[in-house]
Amino acid sequence: MRRGIYPGSFDPLTLGHLDIIKRAVDLVDELVIAVLNNSSKIPMFTVEERIAMIRDVTKDIECIRVEPFNGLLVDFASQIDAKLIIRGLRGVNDFEYEMQMAQTNRNMYPELDTIFLVTNINYSYISSTLVKEIIKHDGAFQNLVPEEIVKYIK
Ligand code: PNS
Repeated sequence: MRRGIYPGSFDPLTLGHLDIIKRAVDLVDELVIAVLNNSSKIPMFTVEERIAMIRDVTKDIECIRVEPFNGLLVDFASQIDAKLIIRGLRGVNDFEYEMQMAQTNRNMYPELDTIFLVTNINYSYISSTLVKEIIKHDGAFQNLVPEEIVKYIK
């Protein structure tokens, strides 16, 4: 069974993330959406809230699990026996950091590969950081996140 991990903070999940999820499920037998629980950044939504939102958004997609993880991603990957990480690339700004993470992860866990899906151009400007800023200032974030998340936040 080919198990892939789509890791992230998802604080909150955006339309860009959802697009990657829908495409990633076609590449693996099971996709584990791994929600980071111990970031140095203080999240707007707790890990339980982020997981509940993602489970709601993905309830009709088969072969998906949504799980929290602490510590190193390679340790989580090893625990659940996954050898494939999937990440989205919005543009060149993401590239350097993503490549560094992929190479470091592979250094620690040589069987682990990272593949990148290029974000749909309609969503490539969207980031969770900007969505949070808009939410904080009571702005219009409705076109940037899935409708289940709009309901949840409201
Ligand atoms: O959505 P994000 O914040 O861009 O996701 C980043 C994430 C969670 C994939 C990354 O920070 C991560 O894997 N953190 C876990 C700690 C870890 O393994 N760090 C070393 C990476 S080389």
